[in-house]
Amino acid sequence: MQQDNLKKREGFSSSIGVIAAVLGSAVGLGNIWKFPYVTGANGGAAFILIYLVCLALVGLPVMLSEHLIGRNTKSNAVGAFKVLQPKKPWFLVGGAGVLSAFLIMAFYTSVAGWVYAYIFKAAGGGLLSTNPKETSLVFNTLVSGVGEPLFWQMFVLLVTGTIIMAGVAKGIERVTKVLMPILFILLIVIDIRSLTLPGASEGLSFLFKPDFSKITVSVILAALGLAFFKLSVGMGAMITYGSYVGENENLPKMALKVALSDTLVSLMAGIAIFPAVFAFGFEPNAGPPLLFITIPTVFSSMPFGGVFMVLFFVLTAIAATGAMLSLLEVPVAYFTEQHNWSRRKSTLVTILGIGLLGSTATLSNSILANVTIFSKNLFDFYDFITSNILLPLGGIFIALFVGWQWGKSKVYQEISNNGQINNQGLADVFLFLVRFVVPIGITLVLLAGLKIISF
Ligand code: PHE
Repeated sequence: MQQDNLKKREGFSSSIGVIAAVLGSAVGLGNIWKFPYVTGANGGAAFILIYLVCLALVGLPVMLSEHLIGRNTKSNAVGAFKVLQPKKPWFLVGGAGVLSAFLIMAFYTSVAGWVYAYIFKAAGGGLLSTNPKETSLVFNTLVSGVGEPLFWQMFVLLVTGTIIMAGVAKGIERVTKVLMPILFILLIVIDIRSLTLPGASEGLSFLFKPDFSKITVSVILAALGLAFFKLSVGMGAMITYGSYVGENENLPKMALKVALSDTLVSLMAGIAIFPAVFAFGFEPNAGPPLLFITIPTVFSSMPFGGVFMVLFFVLTAIAATGAMLSLLEVPVAYFTEQHNWSRRKSTLVTILGIGLLGSTATLSNSILANVTIFSKNLFDFYDFITSNILLPLGGIFIALFVGWQWGKSKVYQEISNNGQINNQGLADVFLFLVRFVVPIGITLVLLAGLKIISF
């Protein structure tokens, strides 16, 4: 029976497809919506440096850990831990991941819905205004509505659900392989536009000249949370995708390629946004609405801005879609494999659940505005609890599992493709990171960021 299941299990069909899918998961609203406003709000270049340190020392090792666990077990986030440690409760880490997928998707589909809506608004000329009061009216009318944002959120769920239902190779891989190159081309086009504006250099120095006086512990927690969210780690998405990766892929190389390309996309998004923002005299720290209020105003101020604005939101929608596929795949793989449901039923149940939970995030700007948890509205609560708590916690346990529980020789075997790649030195560095640096580092940042300890 187990044998049968293994034989039937689908996977990615080519190395290019693997990279497209994994990078498609990493690149998302994180790069284009979150990264610019979090960077803007936390002082620019100094924040980016801290972020890069978190990425290299913590995000990357956790990503590799997840790929190793996934490929070794050929199983979903929960099943993987059950295969490796059937008698211990490690599978709860995967269970928390499935829960995180629902919580992230709740607010992610809400923002993705605004992005999809903005493509049409931009194309129709409805966003062409150089007056921020007018563009903020468009945004506020959209988000404080009921029917319109809910419609777009459900539309996003239907699009991504349809792709997921088509399967791993025929759905996820096929779509991301086409979308990822388009995304890079669009980014390059918009970057050239932004960099050739008079006054662009001020935006560049904001991005690349650090001011360390802005760094506090909560800034470091924000950088760490962003690193996790960006690389899609800490919740089993990379275990799930790793389980579809072939035996001959070089996993450390792949994780490094993905992290570097993802960072490149974030910086390119920053270059698309900040020079333009400064060139037209806007503030960089406009918070989450940066993308939806400032950007349209900025684009409207430049020659051919209308065209670039449409391209920009198409690009953002592409990025968001690839990321959502991996978020959906976590529960879908879990339901199909652990509960023996069909892929179709698993997908339908998942998007239905996300639709219900997600509408509470969307409506937190209107009829549910008064519902708060820890003085955050539901949208902000889902975002905070996942990025700043669940993903880092998941990261600690995944690192501890690989570092202390799985067994050194098994880790060596998997990381070297059973001895085919000669990477013992790298494996030692990796083990040191997941044994000590990742768990201790995250614990300190979490406790300090949540003000449980201070120094
Ligand atoms: N990495 C995605 C982004 O940057 C978000 C994501 C988080 C995707 C967790 C999957 C899992 O937008």
